[in-house]
Amino acid sequence: MKVGVLKEIREGENRVAATPDSIKKLLPKGVEVLVETGAGDHCSISDPLYEAAGAKVVSREEAAAADIVLKVQCPLEEELSLLKEGTLLITMIDPFGDGPDIMDKLAAAKVNCFGMELVPRITRAQVMDVLSSQANVGGYKAVLEAAHHYTKMFPMLMTAAGSVPPSKCMILGVGVAGLQAIATARRLGAQVEAFDVRPEVKEQILSLGAKFLELGIDESGSGSGGYAKELSEESKQKQKDALTRELARADIVITTALIPGRPAPELVTEEAVKNMKEGSVIVDMAAARGGNCPLSEADKVVVKHGVTLIGHTNLPSMVPNHSSLFFARNLVSTLELFLKKEEDKTTLTVDFEDEIVDAAMVCYDGKRRWPKQES
Ligand code: NAI
Repeated sequence: MKVGVLKEIREGENRVAATPDSIKKLLPKGVEVLVETGAGDHCSISDPLYEAAGAKVVSREEAAAADIVLKVQCPLEEELSLLKEGTLLITMIDPFGDGPDIMDKLAAAKVNCFGMELVPRITRAQVMDVLSSQANVGGYKAVLEAAHHYTKMFPMLMTAAGSVPPSKCMILGVGVAGLQAIATARRLGAQVEAFDVRPEVKEQILSLGAKFLELGIDESGSGSGGYAKELSEESKQKQKDALTRELARADIVITTALIPGRPAPELVTEEAVKNMKEGSVIVDMAAARGGNCPLSEADKVVVKHGVTLIGHTNLPSMVPNHSSLFFARNLVSTLELFLKKEEDKTTLTVDFEDEIVDAAMVCYDGKRRWPKQES
């Protein structure tokens, strides 16, 4: 059984789907790992490091011809022709972006595909959850990017040359990325306040040493599966108005608000940006999905009304070694769903009775299986 690892060719993507660490975990499963030459070039993993871990470094064509192919990003058109009929491709598939179109093409080529973002958020699947592992890195990097563009320091300093107060950091949306952003901003010495529409998150905010930002919204935004649901129009307006007042006190704002499958909710209006202090920084982590602030621009850093708005859409790729380490471990756990080792032989089985396989296998046997039709 051969597992191929392709070099990512999408612009700005520095991660890779296997690392020496994950290869050492894969080999005992009875597979041969074929890594495309240069696959780890952007994340400090050279070909000799892969070889030392037991992988074979091969050409792009040879890696793509494996029984199972691992990737980070949804394939580009030009990558599709490399994949052969019957291959199991395990990758992020961008289900709310380019994904559906690519799924149709994969199905037509009879490539079977498992989309990592569609793994359900259930306890057993936590080890496979790339959205969480990558959002964790993203939340960390968002704060570092804010610090990089901020013209002041984060911690309080008392020196012979005078004192400076700690910066005030506000985190809006406290899921995985938001929690890591709180922790990182606290480590840098900022005073942190945070808000989420799911009331159960308040305890987690307090446990990280941040203050819960009271916006006076009575409606709970808790939806199913640990995700949020959309607020009523009245509560949305209330939130925007309250934030327009509160953000005037902030130096740094990190927004991470997300409702799955929906455009990002607008939290920070142009009016709120105008009210902010000159030199403040907003990192809009939702910039890829329209943004939590209408003034942010995807993959750009812009200054508007004296406020710097950062719209990087692939923050995990800016910390590529560790984000690859986590991603690759998620893939090793995912492969457990498919690989069966009996004595000397390893076989690949696809069991649709398993709810994880059923939810995330987007193409199988020439058919697109996602989105599921509600019965
Ligand atoms: P998550 O689902 O764990 O957290 C999102 C949070 O937003 C939830 O706690 C939810 O309750 C909250 N939320 C929803 N509507 C809200 C509202 N109106 N006000 C306040 N909070 C609200 O998602 P995760 O994994 O933390 O990712 C967060 C966002 O960051 C997503 O948009 C994701 O696509 C994005 N992301 C961006 C990256 C980048 O490089 N820019 C990297 C990783 C994630």
